[in-house]
Amino acid sequence: MIIIGGAGFIGSAFVREVNKRGIKPIVVDLLTYAGRKENLIGTEHEFIRADVRSEEIHDIVKNSDIVVNFAAETHVDRSIYRPQDFVTTNVLGVVNLLEAARKYDFKYVHISTDEVYGEECADEDSPLQPSSPYSASKASADLFVKAYVRTYGIKAIIVRPSNNYGPRQFPEKLIPKVIIRTFLNMHVPIYGDGRAERDWIYVEDTVRIIYDIMERSEWRGEVYNIPGGQRYSVLDVIKIIGEIMGKEVKVKFVDDRPGHDKRYCMTTKLKYEVTPLKEGLRKTVEWYLNNRWWWEDLIKDKFFTEDEPWKK
Ligand SMILES: NC(=O)c1ccc[n+]([C@@H]2O[C@H](COP(=O)([O-])OP(=O)(O)OC[C@H]3O[C@@H](n4cnc5c(N)ncnc54)[C@H](O)[C@@H]3O)[C@@H](O)[C@H]2O)c1
Repeated sequence: MIIIGGAGFIGSAFVREVNKRGIKPIVVDLLTYAGRKENLIGTEHEFIRADVRSEEIHDIVKNSDIVVNFAAETHVDRSIYRPQDFVTTNVLGVVNLLEAARKYDFKYVHISTDEVYGEECADEDSPLQPSSPYSASKASADLFVKAYVRTYGIKAIIVRPSNNYGPRQFPEKLIPKVIIRTFLNMHVPIYGDGRAERDWIYVEDTVRIIYDIMERSEWRGEVYNIPGGQRYSVLDVIKIIGEIMGKEVKVKFVDDRPGHDKRYCMTTKLKYEVTPLKEGLRKTVEWYLNNRWWWEDLIKDKFFTEDEPWKK
C-alpha cells in the first residue's frame, strides 16, 4: 500500500490505522510546510520524498496494489491568498496519479471533502457547488476521478470526510489555533459572527472508516460521505475548548472570510459510530498541551499570527 501525503494530519493518522491492521505502507510526501516527518514518529513505514505532480511518481506507484492519496494544499485561507498551488497539487497532481492508475491498474482511493457540496445539505449524489478556490480544486479533482473511471475503467473510489480535528493538525486550522493561542494568552480571531457551522469528526474515526470502506468497495467510482454527524458553530466549539482548558478564550471578531460557507451539512449511506465531540476535543487539547515541542516552531507562520492572513 502507498499512502501519498502520509506525513500530513489525516495521512499520518491513516498510517497508524493501517499499522494496527498489520500493514507497513510506503509513505510518499513532498514535506511542504504542512507535512512533517515528526508526524510519523512511532509508526512502521518506508518513506519516499516526492511530489505528486512529478513524473517520478509513476515509477514509485507502478508495483503497488493500492494508492491512497491524502496529498493536497488544504487551507482555505491560503487558497484565497494564493490559489495557484491548489490547482497544481490538488488537480494536476491527481490527474498525474490517474494517468499512472491507467497504466498500472492499482486501486486508487481519492480523499475529497464535504466542502465540494457548498452550503447545501448533501448526500452522495448531490451536485458539487464549491465556494472557495480550495473546494473548487477538490471538486475538479473529483470530476477527473469520475471521468477516468467512466472513460478508462480505472479502479477508484472517492471519500468525502467532514471537518477533521485531533492530534497533529497544523496550527493554521481552527481547533489547534484556539488551543495554542488560548494557552499562550493570545486572542483568537474569529471570522464574521462566529456562527458558521461545521460538522466535526475525530481524525481516528475518519481513518478507521476509510479503511473499512476500502475493504468493502467495488472500485467503480463509488462516492462515500464521512460526516461526523455533530454540527456545531465555531463559537460552540470555542466554548467547549474553554471549558476543557479551564480558561477564557479571548475572541476577537474580524472581517468574514471572503466566500465563507455558513455551514456544511452532509448525510451518508454508511453506518458507523464516532467519538462524541467533547471527548474528542478533550483528547485533542491534552495532546497539544503535552506536545509543545511539536508546535512551538510552527507558530511564527503568518496563517497563525495574523488575524486576516489572506489580506496582502
Ligand atoms: N483536515 C480536514 O478537516 C479535511 C476534511 C476533509 C478532507 N480533507 C482532505 O484530506 C486530505 C488530507 O488533509 P490534511 O488535513 O491531512 O492536510 P495536511 O495539510 O495536514 O496534509 C497534506 C499533506 O500533503 C502533502 N503534500 C502537499 N502537496 C504535496 C505534493 N505536491 N506532493 C506530495 N505531497 C504533498 C503535505 O506535505 C502534507 O503532508 C486532503 O486531501 C484534504 O483535502 C481534510
